[in-house]
Amino acid sequence: MTDTFVTPMISMRDVQKHFGDLHVLRDVTLDVPRGQVVVVLGPSGSGKSTLCRTINRLEPIDSGEIRVEGELLPEEGRDLARLRADVGMVFQSFNLFSHKTILENVMLGPLKVRKDDKAQARKRAVELLERVGVGSQQDKYPAQLSGGQQQRVAIARSLAMNPKVLLFDEPTSALDPEMVSEVLDVMVSLAKEGMTMIVVTHEMGFARKAADRIIFMAEGQVVEDTEPERFFTEPESDRAKDFLSKILGG
Ligand SMILES: Nc1ncnc2c1ncn2[C@@H]1O[C@H](COP(=O)(O)OP(=O)(O)OP(=O)(O)O)[C@@H](O)[C@H]1O
Ligand SMILES: [Mg+2]
Repeated sequence: MTDTFVTPMISMRDVQKHFGDLHVLRDVTLDVPRGQVVVVLGPSGSGKSTLCRTINRLEPIDSGEIRVEGELLPEEGRDLARLRADVGMVFQSFNLFSHKTILENVMLGPLKVRKDDKAQARKRAVELLERVGVGSQQDKYPAQLSGGQQQRVAIARSLAMNPKVLLFDEPTSALDPEMVSEVLDVMVSLAKEGMTMIVVTHEMGFARKAADRIIFMAEGQVVEDTEPERFFTEPESDRAKDFLSKILGG
């Protein structure tokens, strides 16, 4: 048996993206197999967020192809809503609805997009909130929770859609230091359970512990694509060496 013909969870081919004159994604080609955890590193402005945003089509691309489980990204309508459910995204700013309770925030997608019945959506939301450790907060509003708790709710909200892939764009960057680990712990457990994840983060501890693979970007290009240990000990490019020496304080 060979794995050669197994369809990747995410497949990007020759992806180009400009913002005006700025070439933000240059010829990005990348396959992410099911269950893989990819950590995306790179200096500010290198295109990490844009890369994530193109995968659930928050940003359209100029040319090239992006597929999720072999299917080209839909452009609009129902199919796009389904894609956004399949490819969950967790942002730096938690983006919870402030006028809805924690429980309502997690139930909303399943009710509106998946048309789940209310009892079923509630049961699943309660389970997910317990799983991320905020079960006792379900009737509170987002502003009544700490940043770390809100981010865990945001993860539960994505999970409620039964995503095939989760994208994380600096999920801990807005948090006070003491709350970072409670969010990373949830992410590590998702990784262990086999979730396919693409994670933009500056948390090198997480990268070393949970990543199967490091993608290092600079100026819109994938400059290195390698195993974490190798990336951290023997980076090939000068750009990666420079980046590591800054981030590791070397
Ligand atoms: N909507 C936009 N319109 C114009 N330029 C944009 C837009 N979004 C991003 N850019 C530019 O595209 C480039 C890549 O941005 P991106 O946000 O993807 O970088 P990043 O690697 O995520 O950076 P950071 O580490 O600071 O988050 C940057 O030069 C940025 O200024
Ligand atoms: Mg960014």
